[in-house]
Amino acid sequence: MERSKWLTMVIILSLFVLSAGRGFKAHRKYDLPRYNHTLARILVEYSSAVYISDLTELFTWTCSRCNGLTKGFEMIELIVDVEHCLQAFVGVAKDLNAIVIAFRGTQENSIQNWIADLYWKQLDCNYPDVSDAMVHHGFYSAYHNTTVRPGIISSVNSAKKLYGDLQIMVTGHSMGGAMAAFCGLDLTVNFGMQNVKVMTFGQPRIGNAAFSSYFSQIVPNTIRVTNEHDMVPHLPPYYYHFPQKTYHHFPREVWLYHIGFGSLVYTVEKVCDGSGEDPTCSRSVSGNSILDHLKYFGVQMGCDDVVRCRILMDPRLTAYSTQDQSGNFIMSKSRSNPIIKTNVENVESGVSSNVL
Ligand SMILES: *[C@@H]1O[C@H](CO)[C@@H](O)[C@H](O)[C@H]1NC(C)=O
Ligand SMILES: *[C@@H]1O[C@H](CO)[C@@H](O)[C@H](O)[C@H]1NC(C)=O
Repeated sequence: MERSKWLTMVIILSLFVLSAGRGFKAHRKYDLPRYNHTLARILVEYSSAVYISDLTELFTWTCSRCNGLTKGFEMIELIVDVEHCLQAFVGVAKDLNAIVIAFRGTQENSIQNWIADLYWKQLDCNYPDVSDAMVHHGFYSAYHNTTVRPGIISSVNSAKKLYGDLQIMVTGHSMGGAMAAFCGLDLTVNFGMQNVKVMTFGQPRIGNAAFSSYFSQIVPNTIRVTNEHDMVPHLPPYYYHFPQKTYHHFPREVWLYHIGFGSLVYTVEKVCDGSGEDPTCSRSVSGNSILDHLKYFGVQMGCDDVVRCRILMDPRLTAYSTQDQSGNFIMSKSRSNPIIKTNVENVESGVSSNVL
């Protein structure tokens, strides 16, 4: 008798604890984000389009990579840091009810060299105001110490003025993903913006475990898509035996891989655990492919041509742009001059520059 009473009580208690646990989990401040396939398919197209080197086509959203799921996107500002060979844009996607910010990855003539360098990147920069958090200085400063950041901030503010308080979605591929992550964090921490979502593709590691855990608390709505054997998410290396000292990804990874063969191949989208370094996701294979880095969801990533940071622009669009002393510039719809000069002879020929 006593025993069965005890048992009943234990069962009731454990049910209570279980449900309380579940309730607690559901209301936790940093729940793991849900992965939305539809959204990933859309954002990958923005991450692809930002590589386009013809700035006229990009600014007017008429480029070859601009007419799929991103049709109707309203460009607000296109930011080009000529000095550091960086490119980003801010605009409004009405169908997503969101401000979309996209960063271009590296535009070196040799992606192989860029990737080879990643093996040796040090954790060489303390992330300000977060104890023990370290990041890679190059990625950090590409966002924080160039004309990109002020350009993004002012564009987001003007987008908010024009369209109200929309969601903010930050995206990018490769190094553009690293910049997207720093941007999402910056907007949340330093500008108090709510509703910031980050989704990156083929992004390298950018900081250590302390940084990653901080990141996932501040920007919980983050998805990091990796593809098959793509090398870049494996870099800079993660040293399993030194979890505190090594680079460490933030969650949440979604790993794409293919199963089947012949005409029956299909893609699995594996939603990974909350560790950031799920051993059953991309870490379960060797990162040995550049090709897998350059195609996500069948969408071509990377540059559309092989030239180095060449800038192509229709001279008539100079009316929309403001330039600083170093030649970096922002093309802005809000700054636009409604009367585009028709006297083409008097307009300078397009900006053209090569940056090493
Ligand atoms: C996924 O994203 C799409 C595009 O933003 C949206 O229409 C849809 O409602 C989302 N689905 C879920 C389950 O949130
Ligand atoms: C920022 O860039 C300037 C010039 O490019 C450089 O002198 C400075 O050391 C950089 N600061 C940081 C924190 O990287």
